[in-house]
Amino acid sequence: MIRTRFLSTGFRVPDRVVTNHELEGMMETSDEWIRQRSGIEARRWAAEDETGADLAESASRMALEHAGMDATELDCIILATLSPDHFFPGTGVFLQRQLGVTDIPCLDVRNQCSGFLYGLSVADAWIRTGAYRRILLVGTELHSAGLDLSLRGRDTGVLFGDGAGAVILAPTEEARGVLAVKVHADGRHAETLWTDVPGCAHRPYITCADIEEKHHVPAMQGREVFRHAVKRMPEAVREVLGETGLPLAEVDMVIPHQANLRISQAVQKTLGLPDEKMYNNIQRYGNTTAASIPIALHEAVAEGRIGDGALVCLTAFGSGFTWGAALVRW
Ligand code: COA
Repeated sequence: MIRTRFLSTGFRVPDRVVTNHELEGMMETSDEWIRQRSGIEARRWAAEDETGADLAESASRMALEHAGMDATELDCIILATLSPDHFFPGTGVFLQRQLGVTDIPCLDVRNQCSGFLYGLSVADAWIRTGAYRRILLVGTELHSAGLDLSLRGRDTGVLFGDGAGAVILAPTEEARGVLAVKVHADGRHAETLWTDVPGCAHRPYITCADIEEKHHVPAMQGREVFRHAVKRMPEAVREVLGETGLPLAEVDMVIPHQANLRISQAVQKTLGLPDEKMYNNIQRYGNTTAASIPIALHEAVAEGRIGDGALVCLTAFGSGFTWGAALVRW
């Protein structure tokens, strides 16, 4: 039986650390409010000339190095982002070009905080059917270019951060790798967390008034997002466990999308997991949407908290609404 194995991980966050105290000087907020509501202490913001493709390239090169591979050995790139460098084409082809690769397919995934899991689901199917054998799956985000630091946007402005995480996936016949992956969506909540423009539902697709009225930056009904996230993530974890027949007690590490520390703590409580089985790094990076799971996965592996044979559960919830989970034998 062919399964999808993680060959390696890599990550990159911009050098600039923006603390909550620094934000206090830019907008009406406080370190205390941000910490209490989200657990975030700092986030990274990219330099003026840095792009999402640049962050993705650094994360990918680290993953390639850890796998002992050259970029030319890749046969597919899947890139997840909600903050693309351009309206079109997707950031995937810019990453491909920067890696010096040509001809291999680049798929751009637009599933926000669940983008990495949606990408993993596609990669897993492609690998198991033999379509591709070396897939680079990247989540990259450059939120700092589009944050609303005004009073209206301060709920989201303090949450999001920049960064990228990458993994290299390959087939294996061993009893390891992706054991199950499930993704879901409920479009009834599409406008609960969204960025309205630029968008071709409008004629023209962006106006000066849109920019003045801040329709081009994220708008969120935070409490609704919170309510659904704490329900859907445990549900998805239980779904992938149910699919494999493995008990929750055998899970060694849960890596939740780093949306908000309070959301992760609620998920942990619902599942009844001890602290050492829950990975959190939102304190340092904020919410990096599609990049948060691969960044956390990389750090957990680098810190030795995920070792050979560990049972790892990834779970995400985000805009759309979209959500899902994956169970991986490391
Ligand atoms: N700094 C200071 N005050 C802020 C603020 C900020 N950055 N953002 C909002 N506030 C204020 C509000 O204006 C409001 O003030 P008011 O009571 O005078 O009207 C007050 O804080 C409470 O706002 P509210 O939105 O009701 O707070 P909340 O308890 O729901 O917390 C979130 C807000 C965003 C932290 C919370 O809803 C949340 O975590 N939601 C999930 C968000 C998330 O994870 N999104 C990503 C999902 S992928």
